[in-house]
Amino acid sequence: MAIERTLGIIKPDAVAAGKMGEILSMISKAGFKIAAMKTAHLTREQAAEFYAVHAERPFFPDLIDFMTSGQIVAMTLEKENAVAAWRELMGPTDSTQAGPDTVRGRFGTSVSRNAVHGSDSQENAVKEILFFFPLCKLV
Ligand code: RTP
Ligand code: MG
Repeated sequence: MAIERTLGIIKPDAVAAGKMGEILSMISKAGFKIAAMKTAHLTREQAAEFYAVHAERPFFPDLIDFMTSGQIVAMTLEKENAVAAWRELMGPTDSTQAGPDTVRGRFGTSVSRNAVHGSDSQENAVKEILFFFPLCKLV
């Protein structure tokens, strides 16, 4: 299987709780290479653009409040089958349903405060990586 890239975000709840180091350790132990990484505090406009696909959903205003509430860490993760592998390590959207070996199971607290983001397809991974790392050369 080919090496893939995906976009991961450590969300404001996990950064504020001081869990960045433990999450990076889980990512590293799972065999991902962190090809790019930055911290950021998103504006409402940036968060709305990033999650534009959810603009009509009832949870959208809360999602924007949450994603702009503090620092985040954005990462380009590389691994074989990275999109699916990172979503597996993250666990399901609802943290209360996530297993103890997943990032959301360990550090998420609800369906909305769920510690991490991951791209949901290779196509979206390319778009999301370029959103945070616009000078990145993607092959
Ligand atoms: P993400 O995009 O952040 O990786 O999460 P996901 O694919 O697992 O879930 P998605 O359906 O894309 O939802 C995006 C984010 O919106 C918040 N959410 N809140 N209150 C709710 O019912 C609800 N549903 C989703 C979560 O922060 C979710 O990760
Ligand atoms: Mg999603």
